[in-house]
Amino acid sequence: MTTIETAPQAASPSGDDVPVLEARHVTKHFTVHSSPFRRGPRRVVHAADDVSLALYAGRIMALVGESGSGKSTFARLLAQLHPVTSGEILYRGTPVRVKGGASFRAHVSKVQLILQDPFGSFNPVATIARTLTRAVRIHHPKADGPAQRRIIDDLLAQVSLRPARQFTEKYPHELSGGQLQRISIARALAADPDVFLADEPVSSLDVSIRLGVLNLLRRLVEERGVALLYVTHDIASARYFAEDTSVMYAGQLVEAGPSETVTQKAAHPYTQLLIASAPDPSRPDEARPRDIGQPPSLIDPPSGCRFHPRCPFAMERCRTDAPPAFALEDGQWAKCWLYADDAEAAERRAENAVAYGLGAVRPAGRRIPTGPDAPTDPRKSTDARTSPDAPETTDTKGDQQ
Ligand SMILES: Nc1ncnc2c1ncn2[C@@H]1O[C@H](COP(=O)(O)OP(=O)(O)OP(=O)(O)O)[C@@H](O)[C@H]1O
Ligand code: SF4
Ligand SMILES: [Mg+2]
Repeated sequence: MTTIETAPQAASPSGDDVPVLEARHVTKHFTVHSSPFRRGPRRVVHAADDVSLALYAGRIMALVGESGSGKSTFARLLAQLHPVTSGEILYRGTPVRVKGGASFRAHVSKVQLILQDPFGSFNPVATIARTLTRAVRIHHPKADGPAQRRIIDDLLAQVSLRPARQFTEKYPHELSGGQLQRISIARALAADPDVFLADEPVSSLDVSIRLGVLNLLRRLVEERGVALLYVTHDIASARYFAEDTSVMYAGQLVEAGPSETVTQKAAHPYTQLLIASAPDPSRPDEARPRDIGQPPSLIDPPSGCRFHPRCPFAMERCRTDAPPAFALEDGQWAKCWLYADDAEAAERRAENAVAYGLGAVRPAGRRIPTGPDAPTDPRKSTDARTSPDAPETTDTKGDQQ
């Protein structure tokens, strides 16, 4: 039987680690026209708002959320395929804002995007050898013909496609989705990257081959020490595959922490809803919620907590005030007023514990400061001070349609 290689117990990143890639308070607003003829008033899509996330060498971070929550936009911001509206992307502690040309090539060779549909990312009329040779020429300009072939053989061996000749002379349509996804990973490896941004890397694949591709990615993370962002709808796979999990809702991160804790002791009602609605063979089907509601429009997102129109535990403040992050146990945090230290929040936490069968009622969390100078990895914050919420960002410069 195929089994997924279980992620080691998540240890919180040590305070001294410099992330390989980090987003600090990153916001992306797209300006769109209300008519296809570019007439009428322009509107702003709040695809990512004040998102901070750090990727570490040799670790996997899952980014989980419903369709349209902004996961791919965020991955593309990290890859610098979109300019940020505000905030910063840092590579090994140094801010990067590429404008094309050499700086863009340098960034994309270190930060490689792996897409959901491998067929769409290959030239259908080029053999695999031709596609890989092109990648090898870019990243190994001094290699001659025989050296290029050796590099290609080695890349294919790293993704367990042997013998190489069985694949190099084929066209993309002659290969299975799993084989082609392996070849797209081999192509990414040609650049000797430090970071993989894998956007739903297995969702388009047959269920029977998903585990093989995930196990391959895990092996590469462990052997080569790359950092991996695993973008997925599937919160259950995050538990087994990723050390850490961040949950995105309507363009904002709402909860994060070690995957085991986030999936087994979800704190945010949205994460709890995702888990309750995920297929689980050990749970009777009638226990799954039937109507889980719809995500909001990102053109006019709800005020306060963006989840409040769907949240059974919403309080008055949730409709008006965006919740700050509250640090909980085990390095977990959640942006939710349930973890405030007052009587009304305690009462709602008790209701939440009963509704989700959590057993003991959680204690209040420690409010983490927000704003531009706030720590970008709340798990590293040991500062228990409170501070006012960050002002809302309205800057839309750098928009891309
Ligand atoms: N280039 C763009 N111009 C305008 N709006 C965009 C653009 N790219 C994405 N969006 C919008 O940003 C929001 C987030 O989209 P995104 O694709 O990042 O979500 P997602 O979480 O990856 O969804 P899915 O799970 O379906 O892939 C959506 O409302 C989308 O329509
Ligand atoms: S802040 Fe309020 S509305 Fe938002 S998830 Fe928490 S309880 Fe629900
Ligand atoms: Mg997407």
